[in-house]
Amino acid sequence: MTRDIQVVQDLEAVARGALTQLRRLLDSSPAGPFRIALSGGSTPRHLYQLMAESTLPWERIHLFWGGERCVPPDHKDSNYRMTREAMLDRLQLPDSQVHRWQAELDPDEAARLYDKTLKSEFGADWPQFDLMWLGMGDDGHTASLFPGSPALERTDVAAVANYIEKFESHRLTLTFPAINASRHVTLLIAGAGKAGVLPEALHSDHYPVSRVHGTQSTLFLLDQAAAAQLG
Ligand code: 6PG
Repeated sequence: MTRDIQVVQDLEAVARGALTQLRRLLDSSPAGPFRIALSGGSTPRHLYQLMAESTLPWERIHLFWGGERCVPPDHKDSNYRMTREAMLDRLQLPDSQVHRWQAELDPDEAARLYDKTLKSEFGADWPQFDLMWLGMGDDGHTASLFPGSPALERTDVAAVANYIEKFESHRLTLTFPAINASRHVTLLIAGAGKAGVLPEALHSDHYPVSRVHGTQSTLFLLDQAAAAQLG
């Protein structure tokens, strides 16, 4: 499976590039549900704002999240809250199309319930997202798969609570087999803070971001600041 790297000018262009890819995939996929795993973090916020202003076949779009922080949905750190404020508040999507982690519960219970949701929504043991958006932290983590964390080894379930030592707390995340069953995986990475780690993170297994891929495509959509140290 080849990995494409596309460098665009800035965060605005990253968002526009992701939206263009989404439209193309929607156009070329069979009618029916189109399941997207959204990224958390701050990078995709503008993309979500653009989506809310766009004419998209919303009746087909089902939203999930690749990871979540262990906080209630109205907490300032909640990925769901970020998405709601950027996009969902401006749409009228039925609850049946928005699948958030119940991150206000005990972490293991929240992960168990998300795994159950995925099995039921996909009608299979593993999800097969049409499109997965992911980000990358400046330590090379993606979703909530952090270097050295226990969830890196999990291949038995799609969704787990992952203890992150440096935060002394759990985060919720999809596992590698769940992410890598996605048809299309696109990494949205912007900002100078990502530039130092990126050359190594693309190639070394130590960095979780190097281990994600889609079954049909893997795209790293970078802005110039993030790509500055790539050869
Ligand atoms: C999260 C994300 C995480 C994020 C990266 C990048 O919940 O925070 O799952 O993987 O995408 O940390 O975050 P920024 O976009 O804020 O740099």
